[in-house]
Amino acid sequence: MIKEFSGFQPVDPFKLNENVFDLLDKEWMLITAGDKDRYNTMTASWGSFGFLWRKPISIIFVRPQRHTYQFTEEFDTYTLSFFGHGNYRKELSFCGSKSGRDYDKAKETGLSPMITPTSSIAFEQARLIIECRKLYADDIKHDSFIDKLIDEEIYPTKDHHRFYIGEITGCYQKVV
Ligand SMILES: Cc1cc2nc3c(=O)[nH]c(=O)nc-3n(C[C@H](O)[C@H](O)[C@H](O)COP(=O)(O)O)c2cc1C
Repeated sequence: MIKEFSGFQPVDPFKLNENVFDLLDKEWMLITAGDKDRYNTMTASWGSFGFLWRKPISIIFVRPQRHTYQFTEEFDTYTLSFFGHGNYRKELSFCGSKSGRDYDKAKETGLSPMITPTSSIAFEQARLIIECRKLYADDIKHDSFIDKLIDEEIYPTKDHHRFYIGEITGCYQKVV
């Protein structure tokens, strides 16, 4: 069952006080794309936040073999859910090692999907939810690597990530 959006308050992305390196590398996030009828979520720790084309943006990186890829391709928006340092590690590890092709990740982990103000899906247990609207997508390419060693090390099977640059359209913090 997908819940209504509650327990969160909007926050101006420019007022967020976060260490983005820590947020991505240590806290991890769930990337979720889809709507109330069908969605998928996966754990991610590679990404970026910034300011581009006069907008606050996120960049996410999704390998083509992920089930989530079908959803980030099909839908115009995605959300990023953050759960706090060391929290929900078991659940995030599950969502980062099992595929939505084989499991209902919400059912298996107990994480509760919630419909966001722009009709995307995020998770009730999150402490921070960021909604994004896709602006630009492209694939990482062998020929574009300046440091070719990274390509050899990260993509030995040539499954280059697709990256999405998304405008941050909403930021929500859990009401405490
Ligand atoms: C900590 C962590 C970070 C990850 N970061 C990414 C990432 O940035 N991009 C990616 O494509 N996969 C990443 N993964 C792998 C996916 O989460 C994993 O393959 C997942 O099972 C895909 O699920 P899906 O098939 O339901 O989309 C990460 C996994 C973990 C545990």
